[in-house]
Amino acid sequence: MTKKFDRYTITSALPYANGPLHIGHLAGVYVPADIYARYLRMKGKDVIFIGGSDEHGVPITIKARQEGVDPQKIVDRYHEQIKKSFEEFGISFDVYSRTSAPIHHKTAAEFFKKLYKDGKFIEKTNMQYFDEETQHFLADRYITGICPHCGYDKAYGDQCENCGTSLSPLDLKNPKSALSGNVPVLKETKHWYLPLDQYEDWLKEWILEGHKNDWKVNVYGQVKSWIDQGLQPRAVTRDLDWGVHVPAEGAEGKVLYVWFDAPIGYISATKEWSEKTGKDWVPYWKDEKSKLVHFIGKDNIVFHCIIFPIMLHAEGSYIVPENVPANEFLNLENDKISTSRNWAVWLHEYLEEFPGKQDVLRYVLTANAPETKDNDFTWKDFQARNNNELLAIFGNFVNRTLVLTQKYFDSKVPAQGVLDEETQKVVAAIAAYPNKISSSIDRYRFREALGELMNLARLGNKYLTDQEPWKLIKTDEEKVKTILNISLQIAANLAILSEPFLPFSAKKLRGMLNMPEHKWSDAGTSTLLESGHQLNKAELLFERIEDKTIEAQIQKLMDTKKENEEEAVTAKPSKEEITFDEFMKVDIRTGTILEAEVVPKTKKLLKLKIDTGIDERTVVSGIAEYYKPEDIIGKKVSILVNLAPRKLRGIESQGMILMAEDADGRLCFVSPTEDVSDGSEVK
Ligand code: 2FM
Ligand code: ZN
Repeated sequence: MTKKFDRYTITSALPYANGPLHIGHLAGVYVPADIYARYLRMKGKDVIFIGGSDEHGVPITIKARQEGVDPQKIVDRYHEQIKKSFEEFGISFDVYSRTSAPIHHKTAAEFFKKLYKDGKFIEKTNMQYFDEETQHFLADRYITGICPHCGYDKAYGDQCENCGTSLSPLDLKNPKSALSGNVPVLKETKHWYLPLDQYEDWLKEWILEGHKNDWKVNVYGQVKSWIDQGLQPRAVTRDLDWGVHVPAEGAEGKVLYVWFDAPIGYISATKEWSEKTGKDWVPYWKDEKSKLVHFIGKDNIVFHCIIFPIMLHAEGSYIVPENVPANEFLNLENDKISTSRNWAVWLHEYLEEFPGKQDVLRYVLTANAPETKDNDFTWKDFQARNNNELLAIFGNFVNRTLVLTQKYFDSKVPAQGVLDEETQKVVAAIAAYPNKISSSIDRYRFREALGELMNLARLGNKYLTDQEPWKLIKTDEEKVKTILNISLQIAANLAILSEPFLPFSAKKLRGMLNMPEHKWSDAGTSTLLESGHQLNKAELLFERIEDKTIEAQIQKLMDTKKENEEEAVTAKPSKEEITFDEFMKVDIRTGTILEAEVVPKTKKLLKLKIDTGIDERTVVSGIAEYYKPEDIIGKKVSILVNLAPRKLRGIESQGMILMAEDADGRLCFVSPTEDVSDGSEVK
């Protein structure tokens, strides 16, 4: 049985205010959230749609330090830019707030205090790295060093990006402060932890049992795997001077962990909205009859499905999310979107280069949304969807209908006469569309919903083509009146039902049809426009996008790729000098990979069996992201055979496969190029 709700609290992930937005943000989070919010408003529901900037966290402070400015200056700059991009794309937030706002600091601090007072935290004192030169404790990404698992020398204090292992700063070998480059010292510090493990039973009942059937498979699966692995207490404070100060004794110089304060930002934003509108914020967060839905990308799942719900539950007076329809990632031209490599379509640039075409991007990103798997955005697909779908189907139908009505009936809606069999079928089909589209949106299947909307436009196109009013006008004007009346009713239905997806075009179409805004429930009828109703002049809803426009965009990306490659060939400077004798200690042989398999529960590690010519041995190698096990069996490799064995994920690795690594961290085998027997010495 579907639950009935009195109101909807819709949140969208708060983007970090340390860079501009790109198409991945829109596709993954904001367009689907906006479609949902607009649709519910049209259904007359009580909705608050929340957005805002996430303005804390270590990367923002690092950027500020690099630029030699205050972090506030960084977030002020990007907050304004991000907010403007959202407005221009028609993302219809009821409130767009920011986590540096005083109301947020107050709300987050009070939230922490309540949990603190209720004894929900564990206090732990441990040793943490401290930079004596800058007098800072080094949190997360402020510390780098050698990964104990794979030997990667730029591992961060919280994670090795080479082998994917999650680390704690004390695990790193040769630790260095990212602030001064100095070797840090260990110093005692106290932190507050949320014991996630204590909520496992509650999570199992709430999600694993309660939402098995209504949450998306990708979201449910990720949550289940986290819970199955067992949860650990998680520190919710950091030694940092940028963020919400921890309101507890002995917490000077400490702030809330960014992932503790950011989701509370949704609540603070609701309070800000409440102050502006005079409406009460409380029911949106505390009444069981409110439906809380978080729109996020897949990298945010654990925070929105496990940690934030535990915080809300532990606090005691809040509701928890009813659904978290997280999307997968959008790639660009077959490559991961990357800010550091400038591999993205930036929204502020799109708006300049494609003025007035916001709906085209909204359309393409919805039609190709990464709802169940990662998807790819290509400029050719963008062009094809505009020219062959929006223009050829939707735009063309509307245009033909309006131009013919202009020509034959002076832009007045002609009367509906007797409906022949085909027309009756069309009228019945129109009636079914609002529910078809609703049913998809209600299940967060936005691409399916958009497909149905386009089917309505297809129906209209087919009807006109079959009926050929331009021929009939000479012999049967009465019939033409009916045909154009029905076509205009389809156009009016499109104007209503396209609003959540294509708000700019829907408005333009309403203008042409001279019709007011409607409720969702008004759609489905074939009597939206009365006969005699005066229409306005037909304008084009969509324009053709020419090859040269698309080629220019592709060229722009190719230039980026070239720049990246040029940067990549700037090789790192050589390491310090060694003697010949030192080199001679290294024993490298050629070998053959006999077996390969992924190490369970890792993304990057492969367990290999190698014939070294001397023996057969096991080597664990961090190459799984670049090579599939089945593709490398039989491959000739170079292997360091006299490296002391080390245990990786419980497996003893006896040696190391030599790999070449480019500046982007891409790996490739260093293999003999001619046939040579296993065990040959490499020197
Ligand atoms: O991943 C991100 O971009 C985060 N800034 C999202 C935060 S969502 C919420 F918790 F605020
Ligand atoms: Zn590693």
